[in-house]
Amino acid sequence: MDGSGHILELKNLCRTFRMKTNVVEALKNVSISVDAGDIFGIIGVSGAGKSTLVRSINMLERPDSGEVYVSGNNIAALPERELMKIRQKIGMIFQQFNLLKSKTVYENIAFPLRYLKKSRAEIGRKVGDMLEIVGLTDKAWNYPSQLSGGQKQRVAIARALVTEPDILLSDEATSALDPQTTDSILSLLKELNTRFGLTIVLISHEMDVVKKICNRVAVLDDGEVAEQGVLWDVFSNPVSGITKKMVSGLFRLDNIHYILDNIDVGKIIRGWGLIVHLLFRGEKANNAYIAYLVKKFDVEISIIYGNIEIIQSSPIGSLFIVATGDRAQVEAALDYLRSEDVRVNILREYSNENEDRGNFSEGKDLI
Ligand SMILES: Nc1ncnc2c1ncn2[C@@H]1O[C@H](COP(=O)(O)OP(=O)(O)OP(=O)(O)O)[C@@H](O)[C@H]1O
Ligand SMILES: [Mg+2]
Repeated sequence: MDGSGHILELKNLCRTFRMKTNVVEALKNVSISVDAGDIFGIIGVSGAGKSTLVRSINMLERPDSGEVYVSGNNIAALPERELMKIRQKIGMIFQQFNLLKSKTVYENIAFPLRYLKKSRAEIGRKVGDMLEIVGLTDKAWNYPSQLSGGQKQRVAIARALVTEPDILLSDEATSALDPQTTDSILSLLKELNTRFGLTIVLISHEMDVVKKICNRVAVLDDGEVAEQGVLWDVFSNPVSGITKKMVSGLFRLDNIHYILDNIDVGKIIRGWGLIVHLLFRGEKANNAYIAYLVKKFDVEISIIYGNIEIIQSSPIGSLFIVATGDRAQVEAALDYLRSEDVRVNILREYSNENEDRGNFSEGKDLI
């Protein structure tokens, strides 16, 4: 026994695919721990290794090395027949729903129970309960082809949970759905988490999805964990390049390059100035810092672009400013912000003597 009290712990997982012409290291020493009751997000771009990782959790994919602890037991070494019991404790849903087309909604949900040779009465009761939980009681006798995408995913969720697993693995479960349906499925997952204490591992390439319901997150980059932790910490203080890029996407900073490249800074500054990106976290996002800076430090501040995101009910504010005035005063003002736990990123120093403004599009990270 190990796994240090986590419901799920992956330790140093490695998985390499060897083909005739090339070798892909899909997982490189991946270690992740998930606590009971977490909605743990795994985010990364296409090919990052997310599906390989999640498939290792129920041994659909055997890692080359490393350990997978489920409730303290290392299952990576178990023979196939002993995995059956473990798999009952881990449900899974997919992007393409994977329903049996020739069977009704009822029979799709009943399928795992029939496999376990449960009694007719028990099957009837459990399927009835699941239909009610996912809101499809009136669709019991429909076939999958008669359902919308969101309804199909609800059937898949009911089927995954009818055996009462402790953990639900969700591999891009909302990626084939429109934004509104995505929200309704995410709300259902959140409700299942709160109501039944279901632990969820949620794989997505979309920041917007992870942001909505996860409490913790791991960022996967080319088979490696770039960073992991409490969602709010990771997104409000991104460290790795890939996470910074994702946070830029979250704040819709794609347009800011254009604005920065085309703004006439010369008109704003008094001889010298800085273009700065500020990230205000938590209640700080609401504070009137800018007015305070102007009053206290005798600096002039122009706001170029601003945006607030709410993550785990707490705001993160992103603000692009031009600060100008006496250099020492501007620096003191920025130091003050740093002391208040505001992330300060100086993007460019600008002076009227220096007419070469360069190009922001090829510049440093905005965050
Ligand atoms: N069975 C396999 N055989 C060979 N290579 C594989 C296999 N499965 C995955 N890979 C490779 O491993 C890498 C990771 O794939 P994986 O499917 O885990 O990525 P992903 O993050 O889930 O991507 P996506 O977001 O597109 O689903 C990719 O380079 C992929 O081509
Ligand atoms: Mg995948």
